[in-house]
Amino acid sequence: MLDEKKILLCATGGIAVYKAVFLLRELVRRKARVSVVMTENACKFVAPLTFETLSGGPVFTDLFSLTREGQIPHIALADFPDIIVVAPATANIIGKIAGGIADDLTSTIITASKAPVLICPAMNANMYENKIVQKNLETLASLGYWIMAPGYGPLACRSDGQGRLPEPFDIAEEIEFVLAKKDLSDENIVITAGPTQEPLDPVRFISNHSSGKMGYALALAARRRGAAVTLISGPTALNPPAGVTFVSVQTALQMRDAVLAHFKRATVVIKAAAVADYRPAVYQATKIKKKEGGMNLSLERNPDILAEIAAKKGHRIIVGFSMESDHVVEHAREKLIAKGIDFIVANDVTETGAGFGGDTNIVRIIDKNGALEEYSLMSKLDVADVILDRVRMLRENRIKG
Ligand code: CTP
Repeated sequence: MLDEKKILLCATGGIAVYKAVFLLRELVRRKARVSVVMTENACKFVAPLTFETLSGGPVFTDLFSLTREGQIPHIALADFPDIIVVAPATANIIGKIAGGIADDLTSTIITASKAPVLICPAMNANMYENKIVQKNLETLASLGYWIMAPGYGPLACRSDGQGRLPEPFDIAEEIEFVLAKKDLSDENIVITAGPTQEPLDPVRFISNHSSGKMGYALALAARRRGAAVTLISGPTALNPPAGVTFVSVQTALQMRDAVLAHFKRATVVIKAAAVADYRPAVYQATKIKKKEGGMNLSLERNPDILAEIAAKKGHRIIVGFSMESDHVVEHAREKLIAKGIDFIVANDVTETGAGFGGDTNIVRIIDKNGALEEYSLMSKLDVADVILDRVRMLRENRIKG
């Protein structure tokens, strides 16, 4: 959420201005305080009234008119935001900012502001590839401006190419990323998520109800906080967060291989996946046909990935999860000790708000000294931050100690 974050949205003149309307809605949904500036050309695509209605405030278009408070807009607006977002950003505004030109309200505010600036270019693909535009973007990136590359796909000029304004949701995510504290930028975090599926035959498998939401929330939060993130996931219906290295697996054995392959570079491993403890002893290559009477399935133990990596953890911080339906704390403590990890996050799947598939969780965290901390109902993203705060605290203690 962008609670009370002050965002100055600058729309410049391209067809993608209509998508800036959806971006504004998404930012308001995330509880940001958004003010809007439009260039003269942007106003030709969408009327300022649309942005005024959705932002609940005036839209600024003119360099020389005063604000309602009698202030000069480019000074008042330059001091106001936590972040300036230029979306869509035309080749023209990119060139102006890179060249230090301040000849209209948007370019003047950006020149006068000390806030971080996120630029979201959107234009015809040939324009985007133009060497001068690319050079200008490189200049801006080297000066600390944040650039979000445009997407690839159908463009307004009826051709395909790279030039589409990224989706509003993705821009909002990038804003969250830019604004988040970067306290994990020294960490390389491997996160596992989702269920594993253990196939019986080409049609059937053994699995569980894990949605992957907790692990994906962890990946998103860790990436926002500046960590290099590898997300190793069993089959889920979720899209991996932008900016993470994504490894898709199906079975526990594949998950083990992927974790071990990324273990060497990892500084933290968080095992949020619900790994199937058993797999069918035999995989039958053709569909198993039904017969009279019952059926016995022979199962084989899967390796315990968490225990295996904890045994050779070295300097790494290892975090496990424990999902239970009874004796939640006792079982979690047993796992923490048996697996030899730094701390364990326990939840009770039978509790309302903590079960499979939801967007919330209720967790207890137990550390290796036995200390227990209980948390009330929170969004999975907030739980992720609680877990990452603890990782951060452990790291600081290790550095001090
Ligand atoms: N885990 C793992 N490999 C397995 C089983 C579990 O790495 N084969 C990890 C999970 O990712 C989780 C932790 O171990 O971080 C605990 O998983 P959980 O399923 O709660 O417990 P189990 O150890 O499997 O024990 P049990 O099923 O008996 O409760």
